[in-house]
Formats: sequence, structure tokens, C-alpha cells
Amino acid sequence: MKSFENKVVMITGAARGQGRNHAVKFAELGAKLIVCDICEDIEGVTYSLGTEEQFSVCLEEITHKTNGQVVSARCDVRDSTSVTRLAEQGIKRFGRIDVLVNNAGVCNIKPAWEINDVDWDAMIGVNLTGTWNSCKAVIPVMKNQHYGRIINVGSIAAMKGIPNLVHYTAAKHGVAGLTKALAIDLAPYGITVNCICPGSVDTDMLAGLAPEIEADVYEAKTLFASYHLLPGLIQPEDTTELVMWLASDASRSVTGAVWNMDRGWAQR
Ligand SMILES: NC(=O)c1ccc[n+]([C@@H]2O[C@H](COP(=O)([O-])OP(=O)(O)OC[C@H]3O[C@@H](n4cnc5c(N)ncnc54)[C@H](O)[C@@H]3O)[C@@H](O)[C@H]2O)c1
Repeated sequence: MKSFENKVVMITGAARGQGRNHAVKFAELGAKLIVCDICEDIEGVTYSLGTEEQFSVCLEEITHKTNGQVVSARCDVRDSTSVTRLAEQGIKRFGRIDVLVNNAGVCNIKPAWEINDVDWDAMIGVNLTGTWNSCKAVIPVMKNQHYGRIINVGSIAAMKGIPNLVHYTAAKHGVAGLTKALAIDLAPYGITVNCICPGSVDTDMLAGLAPEIEADVYEAKTLFASYHLLPGLIQPEDTTELVMWLASDASRSVTGAVWNMDRGWAQR
């Protein structure tokens, strides 16, 4: 039997990058999937977000791997009604939600004095409020099941202050705080809540941030990798490994944890 056979997994921001990698791996391991992506750009973020095309490619792959066991929507995690609707559609189709991976996120690099209200709202809205909206949408069904795994995606910026990222750092520290407090409330119901904190991951987000530091993509990747103790960037399959473990029954004794996967960045 595949390790996620009969499990229902909801993932936000699945069109590309880490979210897509998680979705494909869960599909390979037998899960049924509920996925969303915004598929359009938003104010306060200078790089392009996932596109309809990227989302379609992901959907095609996971639909094939799961024999059609996929519920999907174009949905903005800032909109709590849309996220709740997506979760309800998933519950109607599959009867339960076992795992939530709160992956959707955005970044923008600016010194504190240049951060305007739009930048601030984008960072807090997607990274923090979006995470909460998805938690809120799955808590009732997970409580009824007396089972659930919630995995929030933080960042090294959830563990320490990062220059030119006041708004992103505030949002991701919020995600870590939300994780710790929610773990307490949900523990009596057999639901674990954990947060993973990657360093620099080799995705379109990282490449998209290059112009903000006046670099080309190669220079930006070299700079972001230089923050790590171990050489090189983190790959999406690395974060997927940690997500899979936290989603599995093997992690049953872990809750309220904020895990770094940062190639040693936190020790700098
Ligand atoms: N790439 C990194 O170096 C890095 C480092 C630390 C943490 N992270 C975090 O990892 C997560 C995944 O990032 P990634 O590197 O795969 O980036 P990415 O930009 O490649 O993928 C993020 C996906 O989320 C989607 N998304 C953005 N806003 C959304 C919204 N409002 N509603 C629904 N979907 C939305 C995007 O369209 C995109 O498809 C994010 O939470 C990010 O903050 C990334």
C-alpha cells in the first residue's frame, strides 16, 4: 500500500515551485488532492505569480497520477470565503481532509522606509492571513475526524530578522506564532500543527526577486545561497521530504514545532 493511500491532502499555491512538488509527491504516494492557486499577479509583489498554464500542467500531472482524485480551484488565500468553499468542495467529494499544507506565499524586498501600505498588506495578507484562512477552513472537519496534520510554511524569516524584509519577517514570525498557539488548541483533537522554515529555495520566487536586488538571476541565486553554511540552494524536493514526514503518522509525537531547513543559515 502506498503511504498516503486514502489520505486527503489540501495544498495552497500548487501551480509551481514547492507547492507543485509537494502535490506531485503526494499524488505518487496515493493521496487524493485538493489544490488551489491564485494564478494572477497581485499588487505589492513585483514578480509574476503562478500562471493558469503552470497550474494546468500541475493539474494534468496530479490528475493522471491519482486517477482523477483531484479537486482544484483558482483561489486567493486572502479570501476566506473562497478558501472555505474549496475545503467544502473537497469534503463533499472525499469526505475528509487529513493534511493541510499552507504553502502559498509571496515576498518583496525593500528597506523598511520604502515599504508602503500595499506592500505591507500583500505580505501580511497572503503569508499570514492566508495561512489562517486555510486553517480555519479545515479545523471543523479535522476536529470531527479527531485527526489532522497542518503544515505551515514559514521561512528563515520566521526565526530571525532578515534585512530589507520587515513586512515578510513580521508575517512569517506570525505564521510561527500561529503554529505554536494553534497546536495547543487542536492537540486534544489529535491534530498536529507544525511549521517548516526554509532558507533559500531554488524556485521562481527566488529568481523573481533578482531585479529587486538589482542582480541577474545567476547573481541573485549566488547571493541567496551565500547566506547558507552548506554550499548551494535548497531544492523543492528537500522541503517536500520534510512536509511528507510531518504529514505522515511517523511524526505523531511532533506538534507546535518550528523546523528550520536552511542549510545552516540560522546559525550565521
Ligand atoms: N523560495 C524561497 O527561497 C523560500 C524561502 C523560504 C520560504 N519560502 C516560502 O515557501 C512557500 C512556497 O514558495 P515558492 O518558493 O515555491 O514560491 P513560488 O512563487 O514559486 O510559488 C508560490 C505559489 O503560491 C501562489 N500564490 C501566491 N499568492 C497566492 C494567493 N494569494 N493565493 C493562492 N496562491 C498564491 C503563487 O501563484 C505560486 O504558484 C511560500 O510560502 C514562501 O514564502 C520560500
